[in-house]
Amino acid sequence: MTYRFKTELRYSDVTPKPLWLNRRQLISGAAAGIAVGVGGATMAPAITRNSRYSVTEEPTELDVITQYNNFYEFGTRKEDPSRNAHRLTTSPWEVKIDGMVAKPGTYSYEDIVGNATLEERIYRLRCVEAWSMVVPWVGFQLSDLIERVEPQSGAKYVAFETLYRPEEMNGQASRLLDWPYREGLRLDEAMHPLTLLATGLYGEDLPNQNGAPIRLVVPWKYGFKSIKSIVRISFVSDMPPTTWNMQAPREYGFYSNVNPMRSHPRWSQATERRVGDGLFAKRRETLMFNGYGDEVAGMYSDMDLMDNY
Ligand code: MTE
Repeated sequence: MTYRFKTELRYSDVTPKPLWLNRRQLISGAAAGIAVGVGGATMAPAITRNSRYSVTEEPTELDVITQYNNFYEFGTRKEDPSRNAHRLTTSPWEVKIDGMVAKPGTYSYEDIVGNATLEERIYRLRCVEAWSMVVPWVGFQLSDLIERVEPQSGAKYVAFETLYRPEEMNGQASRLLDWPYREGLRLDEAMHPLTLLATGLYGEDLPNQNGAPIRLVVPWKYGFKSIKSIVRISFVSDMPPTTWNMQAPREYGFYSNVNPMRSHPRWSQATERRVGDGLFAKRRETLMFNGYGDEVAGMYSDMDLMDNY
């Protein structure tokens, strides 16, 4: 199936509403009313529509988005996650929120997402292997959640962790990475309106291989920053350790903003291959900040981005 988008048309305009409203959300929303966290905090999110950031490029086909993945917990080949991730139990799901925050607690998926209307957003996601996709995400701004849990003044960074459950995640049997998968953002990056918690794509719940039930999307950074299947969000004062930076610090920095000027030690990052374009299609020039410079460059104006890669 091919989905085409015009500038002024959103996925929800061309799709019947029941299809693009997240099914899980409908069920939980109807049952829960205003959700209350296990920690006691009211978590009903204030989610606002944000179609400003939707790109006009044609989205990558659903089959490609769901069958060409990086999710090392399920194996290292691109096709491994779509074969193995069905083993992951994604409901019930809890996310622990801790550290320097006024409302820490263990919140259920339903607490986190609440009964808000999920918004359809279309973003470009480019990955570190110099391939890229355009994904119509369903999600909400991470800032919505952060505001609800009220970070304290000492909190400067946000750290994320993926589930560690080797009995369901076959890749965790190997010591390939130092599990659990970890990522982090500076607090201002985490608060940026382009930073999403995604719960779906193409109007449906997230497929397991794409990071169900909830994952990060940071579209101006290389794909590995977009951590999947999140179970912990911590507010901390110091830059947190992150998986690929720990693994290969010279190759993967904490920031990992998309930067065509800075080559990876083993390959150029000046161009990318759009997955689904075909093997012989012309490579595309990679844009600084993945094309989102107008929105995000200001956060790095006093930094040397060749050093802070
Ligand atoms: N999150 C976890 N927990 N484990 C992973 O291996 N891979 C990252 C990121 N998030 C990864 C992860 C990498 S390298 C990329 S490129 C993106 O997920 C891929 O997301 P996609 O498969 O949905 O395109």
